[in-house]
Amino acid sequence: MAVEVLTTADGREKTALSRRHAAAWFAAREAGQPIPLGHATPPDFPARPVTPELLDPRDVPRRRPGSPKGRLAMLHAVAHIELNAVDLHWDIIARFTDVSMPIGFYDDWVKSADEESKHFNLICDCLESHDSFYGAMPAHAGMWRAASDTAEDFMGRLAVVPMVLEARGLDVTPGMIDLFEKAGDTGAVEAMKVIYAEEVHHVAYGSKWFHFLCGRHEEDPKEAFHTLVRRYFHGALKPPFNEEKRAEAGLPPDFYWPLTEKAG
Ligand SMILES: [Fe+2]
Ligand SMILES: [Fe+2]
Repeated sequence: MAVEVLTTADGREKTALSRRHAAAWFAAREAGQPIPLGHATPPDFPARPVTPELLDPRDVPRRRPGSPKGRLAMLHAVAHIELNAVDLHWDIIARFTDVSMPIGFYDDWVKSADEESKHFNLICDCLESHDSFYGAMPAHAGMWRAASDTAEDFMGRLAVVPMVLEARGLDVTPGMIDLFEKAGDTGAVEAMKVIYAEEVHHVAYGSKWFHFLCGRHEEDPKEAFHTLVRRYFHGALKPPFNEEKRAEAGLPPDFYWPLTEKAG
């Protein structure tokens, strides 16, 4: 099921399939007959639509965030992040099945993938209400890098994707909500509020399963986190941090503050 989502290219189709598979997973769980876990080989790169054109981040045109075009570009960038997140969650489900994990691990990432699918569609609806669409502008090419870099390292994946990249989302989303509020774009504000409320859980799942694996391997979580982020994440973490939401998600300051400086 995960590989089927990963190999579907069109965004609306990918996310519809993702939501159907999530519903089937949870229906089976509730019926007390969980879908058995299998083994499959996820693709190195998930299938993506022909557009948007994927550009090196340096070549993605910058627009003033205060302008209508700038806000549209911001929504487009968020849609791109959400679609990428759908693939990231199904990828962690399919990729590490050689490691035995409690079924709750799969529950958490299926739920996250379902939520990212909803987020993608909410933002696409916003774009379409402004006579645009996902694919109308170029987007970042580098989004899958964190996945490629950690394709062989389960704990590295948890450290970099939910605990660094998705935690970063918690830092920047309130500012985006403000910006759309000032512009009177209530549709975008409502979509972003849904995203903001649900993303906290994705970070929390990352932290929970990272700590679980540290316990299994008798590793100190903070030390392990610092080592893995320095190994796989390129660059330093950028303050300001949303300390309150990060704490709610189980990310204490001594996890991320030391990473604001590149290790010498
Ligand atoms: Fe999301
Ligand atoms: Fe997320």
